[in-house]
Amino acid sequence: MLEIKKTIAEALALLTEGAATAEEIASLLEYPPDPAMGDLALPCFRFAKAMRRPPAVIASTLAERFSLPAVKSVAALGGYLNFTLADAYLSEVVAKINREGDAYGRREEGKGKTVVLDYSSPNVAKPFHIGHLGTTVIGHSLKKLHEFCGYTCVGINYLGDWGTQFGKMICAFRHWGDKAAVEAGGCDELVKLYVRFHAEAEANPALNDEARAEFHKLEQKDPDNIALWQWFVQISLEEYKKTYDLLGIEFDSYLGESFYSDKMQEQIDILRDKGLLKLDDGASIVDLEAYHMPPCLILKRDGSTLYPTRDIAAAVYRQRTYHFDKAIYVTSAGQSLHFAQWFKVVELMGYDWYDRLVHVPYGTLSVGGAKLATRTGNVILLRDLFDAAIEKCLAVINEKNPALENKEETAKSVGVGAVLFYYLLNSRIKDSDFNMEDALSFDGSTGPYAQYTYARCCSILEKTGEADEGAPKLSSDTERALVKTLARFPEAVGIALRDYEPCVITRYILDVAAAFNKFYQDARIIAPDGSIDRSRVKLVSAAKTVLGSALSLICLKTPAKI
Ligand code: ARG
Repeated sequence: MLEIKKTIAEALALLTEGAATAEEIASLLEYPPDPAMGDLALPCFRFAKAMRRPPAVIASTLAERFSLPAVKSVAALGGYLNFTLADAYLSEVVAKINREGDAYGRREEGKGKTVVLDYSSPNVAKPFHIGHLGTTVIGHSLKKLHEFCGYTCVGINYLGDWGTQFGKMICAFRHWGDKAAVEAGGCDELVKLYVRFHAEAEANPALNDEARAEFHKLEQKDPDNIALWQWFVQISLEEYKKTYDLLGIEFDSYLGESFYSDKMQEQIDILRDKGLLKLDDGASIVDLEAYHMPPCLILKRDGSTLYPTRDIAAAVYRQRTYHFDKAIYVTSAGQSLHFAQWFKVVELMGYDWYDRLVHVPYGTLSVGGAKLATRTGNVILLRDLFDAAIEKCLAVINEKNPALENKEETAKSVGVGAVLFYYLLNSRIKDSDFNMEDALSFDGSTGPYAQYTYARCCSILEKTGEADEGAPKLSSDTERALVKTLARFPEAVGIALRDYEPCVITRYILDVAAAFNKFYQDARIIAPDGSIDRSRVKLVSAAKTVLGSALSLICLKTPAKI
């Protein structure tokens, strides 16, 4: 509806005596909650002052003068102007979707621009748990959205592969580790060691000093410690990759925190030269009091660097390497202050790209009301969550459609999709609680329901053959309602991109699925005598295209049969 909004707004701008520009009018056009009020509505209250007439009078004057081929009728009601779109316009939307296919809804604003997205970024040797679901799937969905809008995207997995936890891991491995067990057990075994370290250190605090000494040795490039560290990273990465494969995620770079070990000094020198560093109880900080934030820690008392120090060095490196127009960081809202602080430091350092840094925070996810703790071992691993969903899904398929080919593959697509869809239905900043039964239901607002609707489109088209070119003839209001929903896709993409909100797409998918299923109930596509309504086939094809594109934007696969 984006284009039609523009067209209507341009026509109205000529009639409103300079009270508003076409752009302002376009942004005022809304979808009336009740379809009886038309397809688009314009509140006229804003023009009252400039046009020196009451809104209701303005609305009726505009209604009299307005005319556009794409609009069937326009009515003034109260201070509103209600537009009903013409069938000719709606049919042309269907023809356009079928003509453009996967390209329908794509936007151009990112052409020639580069976006760097930092997401997922788990901490090696700590569990990859459902707290990482948000950064992983919101991050990847934002990458897809940006690509869809023409941006060149670089997905970076900024592995937490450096820091004092490696001193603890090395120490734990030397005390209680077993090479064969770690090789066999992978990440789980590493996490066990990590958990054990914390349990033992509680009774024996000397272990903490030992761990610090091991990390120090690692920083000094002690060959034994380096070898152990590399091994830990490699084992963890292999494990993460299994989950990424399941989700269809690939990263363009895995340069983690360790990569920046030798790139921080340059930034520290700049901070010092610019007089930004202050000593505070032996530590070096950047004072941010003037910006109502606690100080940003750059160096600890013992001279070691910190999380913000590495982020600053990494941002500079990425700007030099990719010349990004935007750098997006997706993390839990718990890190919002960290990002606000170091973004400000980058600004104070005089880097003119400071305003291209964007933090995209998200809320906490719990399962059955239980919050997640990292150190106790009492966590739900991401992999386990997906495995459970896949298993349940396979059971449903075995019950409902035992003859299906590729059952395992389909269970994977639908099980994983169910988790993603359920998660991405909420606006990201909201805390949410995960419920597997709800997520896997085939008839709620769920991934399986959306994917099933897509598969239904595929199976209809299999029977009818592909849609012919050209515009369909529309014959009912459920058909019109479906087309109007499909016409909103480019706009939904734009809003999701602007707000960094994949949930705009998830909710939009539910609108399409609902409109399609209503249409499917009402309208006969293949008559009992086998004759096919070719106009309706065009609608099915357009719905399939839009559903497919939208599902892929939120990282869901689109099996043709379920
Ligand atoms: N590894 C961090 C964590 O798990 C997230 C890193 C986010 N990205 C960044 N550039 N700081 O908490």
